[in-house]
Parts: sequence; structure tokens; C-alpha cells
Amino acid sequence: MSSHDTGSTRPAPTTDSGALEVAAIGQGTRRIEGRLKVTGDATYAYEADVERPLYLHLVQSTIAKGTVTGIDSTTARALEGVVAVLDHTNAPRLESTEDAEYAALQGDSVGFRGQVIAVVIAESVEAAREGALLVEVTYDEQEHRADFVADDPELYKPEKVNPAFPTDSNVGRMDRALENADVVVDQTYRTPFEHNSPMEPHALTARWDHEAAEGEPVLFMHASTQAVHGVVKTLAPLFGLDATQVHVVSPFVGGGFGSKGLPHVHDVVAALAAQTTGGRPVRLALTRQQLFALAGYRTATIQRFQLAADSTGRLVGINHEVIEQTSAIKEFAEQTAIATRHMYAAPNRHTSHRLAPLDVAVPSWMRAPGEMPGMFAHEVAMDELAEAVGVDPVELRILNEPETDPETGQEFGHRKLVECLREGASRFGWADRDLRPGATRDGDWLVGTGVAAATYPYYQQPGNRATIRALEGGRYAVEIGAADIGTGALTVLSQISADALGVRLGDVEVAIADSRLPVATVAGGSAGTASWGSAIVGASRAFREEHGTSPSVGDETTAGPAGNPNMGKYSLHSFGAQFVELRVNIWTGELRVARALGVFSAGRIINPVTARSQLIGGMTMGLSTGLFEESVRDPRFGHIVTQDLASYHVASHADIPEIEAVWLDETDPLTNPMGSRGIGEIGIVGAAAAVANAAWHATGVRVRDIPLTADKFL
Ligand code: MOS
Repeated sequence: MSSHDTGSTRPAPTTDSGALEVAAIGQGTRRIEGRLKVTGDATYAYEADVERPLYLHLVQSTIAKGTVTGIDSTTARALEGVVAVLDHTNAPRLESTEDAEYAALQGDSVGFRGQVIAVVIAESVEAAREGALLVEVTYDEQEHRADFVADDPELYKPEKVNPAFPTDSNVGRMDRALENADVVVDQTYRTPFEHNSPMEPHALTARWDHEAAEGEPVLFMHASTQAVHGVVKTLAPLFGLDATQVHVVSPFVGGGFGSKGLPHVHDVVAALAAQTTGGRPVRLALTRQQLFALAGYRTATIQRFQLAADSTGRLVGINHEVIEQTSAIKEFAEQTAIATRHMYAAPNRHTSHRLAPLDVAVPSWMRAPGEMPGMFAHEVAMDELAEAVGVDPVELRILNEPETDPETGQEFGHRKLVECLREGASRFGWADRDLRPGATRDGDWLVGTGVAAATYPYYQQPGNRATIRALEGGRYAVEIGAADIGTGALTVLSQISADALGVRLGDVEVAIADSRLPVATVAGGSAGTASWGSAIVGASRAFREEHGTSPSVGDETTAGPAGNPNMGKYSLHSFGAQFVELRVNIWTGELRVARALGVFSAGRIINPVTARSQLIGGMTMGLSTGLFEESVRDPRFGHIVTQDLASYHVASHADIPEIEAVWLDETDPLTNPMGSRGIGEIGIVGAAAAVANAAWHATGVRVRDIPLTADKFL
């Protein structure tokens, strides 16, 4: 499994700088749970081993706005196997209905098409599903708004954008920059609604224990989530429970891509239903179609981008005005223009976000939320500027490299964008490129290359803790309520644990994904490894201080990370460069990626095997958004038309023939004891822009709205 099969306890695992001495870190350890997954022995949420489960199926609204005037479930209840039908008239009450996304079955108002109206409880999944078809709902329908347009009369300015960034930023005088510039790029870019589409649907098995003793779990959930503690934190107050009364486990997750970062309404519905079954557990899995209505999605964006530059391409002004969509029932404001604030030098700068509140489901996090669509606009605009001034696109970016964070004035910690661009250009063979578009043809195909920069912030979430316990034979248990959503987190945390304790990889047993383990933050924001790993290092050091290097079996310490004075002092981000070669068919407009290369600066890579997998996975998602992914909403009825994986195409193997991800060999001295940053999302950012820029280079057609469907090149 690893090369660490020799040696015993190594000396103190710290250096003067607080950095970790590494031995297990940096090894290409294979996934610890890989065998369980490929042999089918891994138990996913819907398969939790419970006695006599009942099955749930959701009934959804067929109107976008209005009031439920009647629900007739007589026929459904008469169906063999149906146990009960819960709706707003008979479902248990929630303690709090403030959050309209979670206030399921509590009232008669309908805020979006597809909202949960009722749930059928049955002895079999088939009876539940058929029963749901038999529930008859009548409505008093009101006029709704589901058309996302730039001149929405109800556009408003949110107080903050996710998670807590200022909505607008303003430095210098953008209006003067535009007046005095030699060259101005002024264009509008659009990105569509997109759906996360994990392979494993949102699912859970839930049980309500009416007999639970005080302080013991009342609500047990085997869920598919990116944050077991997050589910507890959200659900406990809804049900009037203490955190200790909700127990969530999530040992295996078949992908989340942000949509399992927060609980969604199905978690609440299952917990409500479980209260009514006399203690019998319930199972609920959203259908693929329901995922498109109920599990979060990426907002569409309309982005005006202005670049003002001198004749050499040096930027004097950057303006990024974003309009995006939210739900009228609950606000979610994506941080679309945030990356623009630190990307390139320019003395005059402006960014803004405005929201259109529509009668639609609540948007949420999806695969580099904000950075993906925002950097699509920014990096296509940069390509347009390169075209306008006749400068090589790689050189244009290097020319506009800032010395310090252009908006905060903070020093960058470890900004290596130029190195990524140069390394990528050299590996990709960029130097041979003809600047002119449409200059290369191979039979029926036009061939082009494109580049784009990538960036993603370094986040380390506060509040994580870990427990270290001495086991027999010099082995250690390491416990933290983290989540592995398929990324290799369990393996990587084991490597970090081994180094933090100065033992062999085989001598640590890491337990995650259980809310009874010490508190851990979400597997999101590319922050898992940094946040959880830092807690493990902190707890390991505290353990050694308390119990020394020869502890007694059972000795135990729970602690969190040491504080990091660099957070908030430096501008900390990862960077990358994406290169794409693309072929466009002259007759059909069909686009085929010929090859893609990503070069990333992401701090120390803890595990090159799982890191490569995450980075090429990210690049695939980025290319997929550039080429294919688009959810279509019919504004007349408010529903998503593309609600399966045939009409919502996610890139498949055949779409991504040759893809390579490499990284700079580095250790970030400012971030954490591992010297890492995050790799979950940086691979996604910039890929769509690189493909759009390559498409322009191939054809001379500048497409400013993704996906780059064939019709746009005909
Ligand atoms: Mo990710 S979209 O930060 O879960």
C-alpha cells in the first residue's frame, strides 16, 4: 500500500518554523477505502444496514408560485404498501420555519416549481413511487417570475456575497480609465444555470428514536453529505434538538461537487417522516429528475467586463459587473467577481454583484462557485485584449502581473502564476503558435490553441478539532468528523497523521465521517485538507506534549490547530495555467478537445496520486462547463427542462481524450504545517475560458456564452 513499511517512531515531528517533517506526505498512497468501493462492499447512505425500513417518495409542486388549496391522498393511501402520506396539514411541526428552503410540509405556500408538497411513506420503493403519482393536489396559482434577464426590475444589491465578501469594490476611477485608455474591451459574457450532478444522488436513511435517553441521539441519519457536523448544526435547531441529539454518519459519498455541502430539503422531509413511523427507519433517495429541482445548482450569470489598457496591453482599468439570479424564498449570492479583485494589476478597478430574485429553487455551491463563471469572463476578456493589442496571450498576462494584491495592498503569499504560465507554455509547445485565428486547418478541422489563468483562494476553516488516542502496539487512533466525498481525503489525512505523530502510515487508524467524532468543517471551498490536517497536526503535538513518545494505551488528547498569524495578513491563493488544443469541424461546428494541460501552484501536494485525480477531475469539469453543461429553465412554467444526464450532458471519457495535470514542486511556508493549499477546485477554474479562447483561435469566432455548442460556430 505504501513505501512506509520500515522504521519506528521518528524524532519530534516539528522543525523550528512549525512545519511538519514529511515522510508519508508526498507518497502516492493508494486510496485506503478503494478496495471496499470497487468490490461493492462500501455502504452508501441508501444502503445503511437497518431493520425493516420504510421507503419515501416526494410529491412536488406543478406550479411555480401560489397556494396549495387541497391535497387528496385517498387513492394513494388505498394503494397496497402505502403506509401514510404526509403533507402540510398532518406532518410534524418544525421548531423553526425561518429558513424557507428547509421549512418542508409546514405551510401551503408554493415558492418554486418542484417544491416538496407531500411525501409518501410505504413498505417498498415501488409503492412509495406509485403512491406519489396518485396524490392529487389543487392549487391557487399566482403569477410567477422565472425568466432571468439583465434588466430585471427587481434587481437588488445583496449585503454580502458568499461566503462573506463585500458585494462591490471600487479603487481609483474606472470612468477615467475608460476615457484615457488606448484600447478598451467592453463585452458581456454569459454562463448558464448548471447542476452539480453527482453520480450518487442525494440520499439518506433516517431513524427517530422516541425512547432516547437524555443526551443520547434522537435523530440518526446515514446521509450522503460533505459535512456531517454541518448537517447536525442545520437540522438540530429545526427539530428543537440539541446537537448531541442528532447523529449523522456519511462513510462513503458518491460525489457532491458542492451540492452536498449543505443539507437540502430532503434531509428535513426524511427526518419529519421518521417521526411518524413508530421508530421504523426510512430511506429516501432523490431521483435524478428531482436532483435538478431540489439539490442546489449554479446560478446563471450575465457579466459585463471592461478592460481598459494602453497600446502595449498594460491594464489601466478593470470593471466587472455581475448580474446573477437567486430565489425569492432564500438568498444565495455567488461570489462571481471576487477572483477579479486580485488577478491583475490595474490602478482603476470596480466590481459589483446584483441579484434577480426569481420564483425558482434556491441556488447553491457548485464546483468553484464564483471563480468558475467569473474567471470565464475575465480570461476570455483578456484573450480579447491580447487580440486587440496583438500581444501573445501568455505574455499579456505576465505583463499585468501585480506586485501586491491590487485591492488590499497585501503581500501575496507564494503567487506563482507567471511560473505556471511559463512552465505550461514550455510543456505545451506554445511558442510555435501562430497568433492569427483560423490559420491552421487539418482536413475538415480547424485547429486552435487557447490559454487561461486559474486562481482559487486559500481557505482554512476555523473550529476543527481532532482526537489522538494511543492503541496497542505503538499504533494510534486519529478521529475527526471530516468527509471523504471521493477525493481521497481519508488517505491524505492518514498520511498527515503518520507524519504528525512521527509513525509509519500503517500505524495510524483514521476515523472520519461521524458527527460523534470531533467537530470538522465542510469538504468544500477546497479547504478540507488544510482545515482538518491542521487540526490533526495540532492535536498530535498536544498529545506528544501531554503523553510523550511512549504513551500508555488509552492515553488521549483532543485539540485543534495552532493559530496562523498569516491568515488575513497575506493574500493567499492558488494559481494555475490552462492550455487547450481544440479542433472545430468546418461543416458541423463540432468541437473536439485534442489535448488539455493544466499547470498548478497549489502548495505542497500531499499525495500525487489522489491530487492528480482531483486536478484532472477538476479540469474535466471545467472543460465540461465550457463545452456541454447547460440547464434550461422554461420561464413559462418555471421548471428545468434538462433534468437527466441525457439532456444535461456532463463530459464523458470520449469528450476528453488527452488531459494532463502537473504542479510546481513547492511548499507554502505561510499556510499550514503541511505547507499545502487546496486542490479541489483550482483545476476547474479557467478551463472553460481556455477552450473558448482555443475555439476563437481555431475559427475566428468569438463566443462569449458557454457552453460552446456547435451552432455557435456555423
Ligand atoms: Mo465546493 S462547490 O466548495 O463543495
